[in-house]
Amino acid sequence: MHDTLFVTGASGQLGQAVIQHLLTTEGVSPARITAGTRDPAKLADLAARGVRVVALDFDQPEAMAQAFAGTGRLLLISTDALDRPGRRLAQHRAAVAAARAAGVGHVLYTSMPNPDDSLVPFAVDHLGTERALRESGLPHSILRNAWYQENLLMELGPALERGQWTTAAGEGRYAPIARDDAARAAAAALAGTAEAGRIYNITGPELLGMDDIAAWAGQVFGRPVAAVKLDEATRTGILVQAGLPPFIAPVLVASEVNIRAGKFALLSDDVRALTGRAPAPLAATFAAIRDAGPPAA
Ligand SMILES: NC(=O)c1ccc[n+]([C@@H]2O[C@H](COP(=O)([O-])OP(=O)(O)OC[C@H]3O[C@@H](n4cnc5c(N)ncnc54)[C@H](OP(=O)(O)O)[C@@H]3O)[C@@H](O)[C@H]2O)c1
Repeated sequence: MHDTLFVTGASGQLGQAVIQHLLTTEGVSPARITAGTRDPAKLADLAARGVRVVALDFDQPEAMAQAFAGTGRLLLISTDALDRPGRRLAQHRAAVAAARAAGVGHVLYTSMPNPDDSLVPFAVDHLGTERALRESGLPHSILRNAWYQENLLMELGPALERGQWTTAAGEGRYAPIARDDAARAAAAALAGTAEAGRIYNITGPELLGMDDIAAWAGQVFGRPVAAVKLDEATRTGILVQAGLPPFIAPVLVASEVNIRAGKFALLSDDVRALTGRAPAPLAATFAAIRDAGPPAA
């Protein structure tokens, strides 16, 4: 029983990919895996394969300890509750408290790069969750996921269309990771390669600036694209005009300003150490999109 692996947020994009990697890449038997999600009906296919699928909602703390009972290793995937400051941290604290009450053997948490020195407004959620884990006394590991390469895809189409990729990231660089590589790393870590007490920086294989990203887009799609560096206000206006919710646009721009300030400039070999395999470069993710068909403008 103690070797049960539990994944929270299991119907999210990362959660689903983690479970696929547990089953295929790590060869974990479905009977050892529990998938926790707010909507178990979404994971009927996993249940049919023998994965235990349970209802789990960080907003319903009273039911969580029971759901975690008997769990050996738990992957706590951060939620997307950014609508109200403090809400996500309260959710994560409740999950950590439930893991403690259930006597979970080891908790892994998906954090972000350098949450202790960040201009990103929601960094406090990750910092607070890391702290809650330390204070819980539970054996735990932190997976500090770099920004996904897929975050760039939202703007790839318009950038190719206009030949311009606008940004507030200036000359800053970061090492975006394919979501699937972050999932592969989380699955390997959960299945056993993560050591308690360690922080892993889950980065892509190369530090890239927006000039590099624009150039890769141009090269892969065969069209010239140049990065256009803007101040925060102008960039925020462009994103709002493009239809981004007004509470998301400033968060996205703050991430770019964080890159500009050098606070995301982290490159690590931890993915290879956890998985035995190098993560994919951004050009490969762009090429996969190109090969799947033209991006929407
Ligand atoms: N590194 C990056 O660039 C980046 C980008 C976007 C997001 N993130 C973070 O990484 C997480 C996973 O990314 P993703 O791409 O899989 O995002 P996603 O597809 O938007 O998934 C959202 C996740 O939040 C979970 N969730 C929401 N409310 C919850 C609640 N009340 N209780 C428990 N879980 C809840 C969902 O679980 P269920 O629906 O299964 O309940 C799901 O796993 C996100 O939630 C966010 O914290 C990171």
